[in-house]
Amino acid sequence: MLAKYAAVAAALAVQSASAATVFAHFMVANSYAYNAAQWKADITAAQQIGIDGFALNWTPPDCISDMEWTVTQIENAYTAASSMGFKLMHSFDMSWSECDTYWNTTFMQTMLVKSAASSAAFRWNSNLLVSTYGGDQVSQYGNSFFQTLKTNMKTAGYPISLSPALTTYAMGAQYQASQYASSLTSDYSSIDGYLNWQAWPLESGNNMTTTADAAFQAALKSAGRTGPYIMAVSPWQYKDLNDGNTEDSWVAYSDTLFVQRFQSLVNKEVQPDIIELLTWNDYAESHYLRQLPSQDVTATDYVVMGDEGNYVYGQNHNPWRVIAKYYITWWKNGKAPSVTMDQVVFWHRNHPKGISCTGGSVRGSTYPVDGVFSWALVSAKSTISVAVGSNKYTYVADQTGPVLNMVPFPSNLSSGITPAVSIIRGGKVLQSASSGQAITSACSYQNYNPVVTLAGQGVNK
Ligand SMILES: *[C@@H]1O[C@H](CO)[C@@H](O)[C@H](O)[C@H]1NC(C)=O
Ligand SMILES: *[C@@H]1O[C@H](CO)[C@@H](O)[C@H](O)[C@H]1NC(C)=O
Ligand SMILES: *[C@@H]1O[C@H](CO)[C@@H](O)[C@H](O)[C@H]1NC(C)=O
Repeated sequence: MLAKYAAVAAALAVQSASAATVFAHFMVANSYAYNAAQWKADITAAQQIGIDGFALNWTPPDCISDMEWTVTQIENAYTAASSMGFKLMHSFDMSWSECDTYWNTTFMQTMLVKSAASSAAFRWNSNLLVSTYGGDQVSQYGNSFFQTLKTNMKTAGYPISLSPALTTYAMGAQYQASQYASSLTSDYSSIDGYLNWQAWPLESGNNMTTTADAAFQAALKSAGRTGPYIMAVSPWQYKDLNDGNTEDSWVAYSDTLFVQRFQSLVNKEVQPDIIELLTWNDYAESHYLRQLPSQDVTATDYVVMGDEGNYVYGQNHNPWRVIAKYYITWWKNGKAPSVTMDQVVFWHRNHPKGISCTGGSVRGSTYPVDGVFSWALVSAKSTISVAVGSNKYTYVADQTGPVLNMVPFPSNLSSGITPAVSIIRGGKVLQSASSGQAITSACSYQNYNPVVTLAGQGVNK
């Protein structure tokens, strides 16, 4: 009786461990200078906050010139990951609409079979899990392309579970969730699961709901699909290619998005099979959780940046990993972690909205609030002081859980002010930090990418 009970408990433990997997989307294009040690450093930083694997986003190596090196970096990634108990899956970028050579199923199969030999290859119900970015908007791809890949992989002895990010459906579901979710499964008989890419409010200043997530998950289930429902969670979205086209320049309402989306996950509004953080290292869209790449051209994480360098360099995001770690731990364990450190993560943009700076006009720029947002996680009752120039506020936080707060920008920002945050307990300042950037109306470049700072203990500064 006891033995049987132990076996059941062990089975449940295995199930709950495998039922909460966290991936981060990784742009292989930004790994040009990586060596083995750099791959290991990135994996260590990811594992430190509970990320189990990277979804390797890569474009067809012959799509444009000089991308053949990505094949070698993928091999390097598998080598590093397999030595560290880390997982990888391919996330084929099928969004490039103009390629010299598009993805073909023969080449994809070659790469999948090669990766399958690695202990780092992530499996879902014993099948290799395969994902994408896109595949529904470029005429070279679509349902029959995917079906050919699946059939060929099965015949070759490597059955796959396919969970692509077909973005038409993800966007449509923000307006008509159940219609787009049921079209997804009827239009794509080939897919097993789904990555719902839409992790940001779409052309809206409202907070996201989990309506679309729930609709996709229900549609997969009712269609009898056995692949994972992958929920996307992202801290921010801002891109500005500065090419005069508002289609290439936008900001999504992201002020409290990261916290709010994680809260809906731990509150069990939706129970995805996997979450995918968007992203680890997509600098151009301002949703990187990784540390900023080095600007030294000889560094192993050097990245060639164009105009995006104007809004990326200096905008540290590391402390968002403190928030991610807290909620990932909560989600994996099914209960809020006990708080042992005193930490306040705070973030803000460098200039008020609606002023004109170099870099053109930005779609959605009325959505963000001109404020300093802070998220306090403390081990005992504390006063959190937030000074934003002449706007000085305090609030109380304690060990029962994080507190989110916002202090508006003062109206006169002509000379530039640097926000500062302190944690005060028993009349003593225990922790304090000034922001990495000042807020000023004398902006040098249109920048809706925030800087994130940690006041407190911990490694992710
Ligand atoms: C398939 O893709 C690979 C990698 O881009 C390329 O080298 C090869 O020529 C392609 N094959 C065909 C038939 O297009
Ligand atoms: C979004 O949610 C946050 C709290 O999580 C709240 O402070 C904010 O006002 C909400 N935004 C809108 C536009 O309702
Ligand atoms: C704004 O502040 C600067 C100095 O910080 C001051 O010189 C200026 O007069 C102020 N402008 C207004 C409109 O108050």
